[in-house]
Amino acid sequence: MKRAVKRALHGLGYDIHRIPRDSRQSPPIHLQEPPDIQPVWPLPRGANGPSDEQILKEFARYEFWHYAYSFEGGLAFPIRHSIPSPLANDPQRPLQRFAHFMPYLLQAHGGSLQGRRVLDIACNSGFWSIQCALLGAEVVGFDARPELIEQANLVKAIVGVSNVSFRVLDFWNMSAASLDGMFDIVLSLGVLYHLPDPLEALRLTRSMARQHLLLDTAVSRSLEPLIKLFWEEPVDISSASRSGVVAFPSKSGVELMLRHLGASKWEEIPLRNKNMPADYLGRARASWLVTV
Ligand SMILES: C[S@@+](CC[C@H](N)C(=O)[O-])C[C@H]1O[C@@H](n2cnc3c(N)ncnc32)[C@H](O)[C@@H]1O
Repeated sequence: MKRAVKRALHGLGYDIHRIPRDSRQSPPIHLQEPPDIQPVWPLPRGANGPSDEQILKEFARYEFWHYAYSFEGGLAFPIRHSIPSPLANDPQRPLQRFAHFMPYLLQAHGGSLQGRRVLDIACNSGFWSIQCALLGAEVVGFDARPELIEQANLVKAIVGVSNVSFRVLDFWNMSAASLDGMFDIVLSLGVLYHLPDPLEALRLTRSMARQHLLLDTAVSRSLEPLIKLFWEEPVDISSASRSGVVAFPSKSGVELMLRHLGASKWEEIPLRNKNMPADYLGRARASWLVTV
C-alpha cells in the first residue's frame, strides 16, 4: 500500500523521503509567545540633523535603495532596485519581518536591547542597525558595498543616533579582531544565501556571538537536510557582492548545521499571522533564534 502511494505520488512528480530523526532534533528553547513589537516607523529626526533640502539632495545621489525610508514630518522615499522583484519592492517587507522575529529576540533579552552589543552582518543601508540602536543597543553594521555604508551613515545622521557605527567589510573578513571584539547578539539577516559555503558561514557567524544569533534566510523547500546551489551575479544592491556559487540550505539542513556547530539551542520562529511576505508564508524563507 505504502509503495503504491509512493509510486502514485512519484507519477505526479512528488517523492517521499524519510527524514532521519537526528536531523530533526533541535534542543528546543521553548520561548513563550512574546508581546507584539513594531519598528520605530517612520524614523525619528534628530535635532541637529540635515534639513529637508539636504536630505532630498543626498537621497537623490543614489540610484538604488533597498528600503522605503520614511521619516517623521513626512519625508518618504521609494525602494529602487536594478532588478524589479515584487517581494523586495514591497515597502512593508522589513516592517513585517521586524514584527515577525524581533519580539523573540527582545523577549530573550528581557524586553530591551539596552547595553547589548549587536552586530548587523550585511547591514545594507542600516534598517536593522538603526532599529537596534533605537532599542538601546551599541551596534556595528557592515556591508561589502561602500555605497550602502554611505547610505547607512546618511540615515544615521538624519535619525541622530550615536550608538551605531557602520563599516565596509566583506563577510569572509569578519573577525573579532577586525570588529573590536565579540557581540552579545549577531544578526544574520538575508545574507546566508548570498554566500557559497553555509556551514563555514554559520561557523564564522556563530564565532562572533556571545549569546544569540538571529538567523533569517531563504531556504530550499525540501524536507531533506540538503543544500541547493545556484549561481549569483552581483547585479543588485541586495545580491551577492561578487559572482559565484551561492547556497540555499533546507530548514532541516540549517538545523543539522547548527547541531554540527554545537549551538546549544535553537528555535525556528513561528509564523504567527498571515501579515507576512509571500516567501515566508510559502516556506521559502525562515528565521531562527539561536542560543550559541
Ligand atoms: C538581501 S540584502 C539583506 C539586507 C539586510 N540584512 C536585510 O535582511 O534586510 C543582502 C545584503 O548582503 C550584502 N552582501 C552580499 N554579499 C556580501 C559579503 N560577501 N559581505 C558583506 N555583505 C554582503 C549585500 O550588499 C546586501 O546589502
